[in-house]
Amino acid sequence: MKNSLFDLAGKTALVTGGTHGLGMAMAMGLGDAGATLVINGHSRDRMESALDTYRKAGYTVHGFLFDVTNEAEVKTAIADIEDQVGEIDILVNNAGIIKRIPAVDMEVADFKRVLEVDLVAPFLMSREVGKKMIARKSGKIINICSMMSELGRNTVSAYASAKGGLKMLTRNLATEWAKHNIQVNGIGPGYFATEQTAPIRVDGHPFNEFIINRTPASRWGDPDDLKGAAVFLASKASDFVNGQIIYVDGGILATIGKPSNES
Ligand SMILES: NC(=O)c1ccc[n+]([C@@H]2O[C@H](COP(=O)([O-])OP(=O)(O)OC[C@H]3O[C@@H](n4cnc5c(N)ncnc54)[C@H](OP(=O)(O)O)[C@@H]3O)[C@@H](O)[C@H]2O)c1
Repeated sequence: MKNSLFDLAGKTALVTGGTHGLGMAMAMGLGDAGATLVINGHSRDRMESALDTYRKAGYTVHGFLFDVTNEAEVKTAIADIEDQVGEIDILVNNAGIIKRIPAVDMEVADFKRVLEVDLVAPFLMSREVGKKMIARKSGKIINICSMMSELGRNTVSAYASAKGGLKMLTRNLATEWAKHNIQVNGIGPGYFATEQTAPIRVDGHPFNEFIINRTPASRWGDPDDLKGAAVFLASKASDFVNGQIIYVDGGILATIGKPSNES
């Protein structure tokens, strides 16, 4: 029996930063539900290898290289995508960077760059795609937030500022655009096994031990764990869900944790 609530056949999904990592996993989830995929990145080599990976796995996919922080490039790319592929029904603002630098040592330029990619770019992408969604009275926007939308941690002042801001941008756009039948929501991944976390995801690294002990599910997330939330927020199943962040974190935000001597 077909479940039309979660069916994305006939829909086009644009996933920024879809060339690897969490973006690729979520894009594949949307593709599994029937969506035509458009992925963005800004490295040509990574784009070519990503398109190869998607196509070998059987997905219908189109790649567009542009910098999500560049207003002119964004406007051109969105026009080209709508012209060459089709109307963007689903936008996933996933492209992101992190700079792990103690606040006292962080240059303003580094702080601003993180805000530019992780907060200003989702605003820019949403504004440009949102204009078209408003005209069509339909659309889904999913902002990839973080546990750092809620919590602080040493060395990530810029990232936490950006992701906290992205949570509030999500709520604000949801407020402005719900009346146009556009649902703007977010996904907050916990700690996931990707390139971004590779430096700290090694045996014996204190942070690796900390994550395993601090996560009720006792493991790092697998990028595939994000597919369900992405499909839900992209589908008809979430038509009355506005301005919510779904944390996919193995339970970290649900608990204060336990002493190290407690099983
Ligand atoms: N990994 C985690 O555990 C974790 C946890 C919570 C939240 N997140 C968030 O989830 C998202 C994806 O994380 P990830 O770990 O999969 O990251 P990743 O592996 O570093 O991938 C980032 C993607 O963003 C693209 N990108 C970066 N800057 C861009 C720009 N200016 N213009 C266009 N594309 C750009 C990259 O493209 P190129 O390859 O071409 O550079 C790449 O495709 C991010 O927003 C991140 O903050 C991750």
